[in-house]
Amino acid sequence: MRTTVGIIGAGPAGLLLARLLHRAGIDAVVLESRDRSYVEHRQRAGILEQGTVDVLRAAGAGERMDREGLRHDGIELRFDRTRHRVDFPARTGGRSVTVYAQTEVCKDLIALQLKEGGPLLFEAEALAVEGAGGERPRVRFRREGREDVLECDYVVGCDGFRGVARAAVPAAVARVSERTYPYAWLGILADVPPSHDELVYARHDRGFALLSMRSSSVSRLYLQVPAGTRAEEWTDDEIWSELDRRLETDDGWRLRRGPITQKSVTPMRSFVHEPMRHGRLFLAGDAAHIVPPTGAKGLNLAVGDVVTFARALIHERETGSPDLLDAYSATCLRRVWQAERFSYDMTTLLHPAPDATPFDAGIQRARLARIASSRAAQTDLAEAYTGFPLG
Ligand code: FAD
Ligand code: DHB
Repeated sequence: MRTTVGIIGAGPAGLLLARLLHRAGIDAVVLESRDRSYVEHRQRAGILEQGTVDVLRAAGAGERMDREGLRHDGIELRFDRTRHRVDFPARTGGRSVTVYAQTEVCKDLIALQLKEGGPLLFEAEALAVEGAGGERPRVRFRREGREDVLECDYVVGCDGFRGVARAAVPAAVARVSERTYPYAWLGILADVPPSHDELVYARHDRGFALLSMRSSSVSRLYLQVPAGTRAEEWTDDEIWSELDRRLETDDGWRLRRGPITQKSVTPMRSFVHEPMRHGRLFLAGDAAHIVPPTGAKGLNLAVGDVVTFARALIHERETGSPDLLDAYSATCLRRVWQAERFSYDMTTLLHPAPDATPFDAGIQRARLARIASSRAAQTDLAEAYTGFPLG
């Protein structure tokens, strides 16, 4: 099999890239190791930055998002039993975010790709990228028990943190920066209307809690738990009681309970692989970088990477100049490191570490009080949360 751009992975990065290239008249083939239903139902992120919304709309993939997505103009920070709102449009000149689940973004992009786009092969597992440093990179893959080869002009590794593409960058030219955290998130989906109309990020001495949502009838909530916790260790009642304690306020606010339909644990990690390009292999999304989820940057970063790649390749086609492709890694990494910084700041602001001292707790409270009382500090948070510009 032969194509212009071989895309490994049909997560948000790979699917959006396929859509952008299709719109530009550039051939691409997407290889995805899992089946369609698995990809469409994997519970993950839920918050789209303004720029992500704009990109999906411009790619002709925004119809249902515009109908069903919930525009959010702020978040609430909760600490010491008090509530403090950060108003996004007021602090950023009109920017906001949209609650629309990653599962729904993927469903919309898959439907469009199967209807209008090039090949999207499910249950096709990439085994290795070969010849990345030469003119004709290849992806070796397995499908229906047989091995095959996809010959490409370019390969884009959108295969997530556990994919195979990153391994094709020689260790001698790669630099990895990594940090793990001694806690994780226990996330639930519950059939109950959200208890607040905006997201609530809560710091409590017992740990962080986050109230989010998927729709006006489905709540998404997270609890900080020790790293290594298994979801089965928590009963539904224990989860609701712990959420109650961490989210409690002095003004009579109440958390609504409902049936829990899904429970899982997400580990927390910061990870950056540099450079994001080797020869004709480009890495995008979680294949190149991971952020801890506090601040909801993972999916949005993946979108930024593939928009940068698509622009660069279109530029090369139109002008013959490889300048933007050559700048791909540096362009993406500027934005990636800003998101790493923000996600790290939000994580360490809101999660008490297991070995935290009274001094650490005092600093967290002081940082929160500073945000609650300073327009400048709110502007800093709001600009980062609603998203840094592309490029
Ligand atoms: P992925 O979505 O990981 O997609 C990679 C795709 O490649 C997958 O479909 C995978 O099956 C496929 N693949 C892997 N290996 C191969 C192979 N060898 N051959 C072919 N296909 C392959 N972000 C937030 O902002 N908020 C959250 O609450 C949040 N929760 C998360 C929970 C979990 C468990 C994880 C793992 C991530 C979470 N994230 C969250 C991060 C966010 O979901 C990711 O940043 C986003 O999915 C990145 O998109 P991607 O397309 O780069 O990678
Ligand atoms: C969600 C996830 C996040 O990481 C976050 O910061 C906010 C919301 C969510 O899944 O809804």
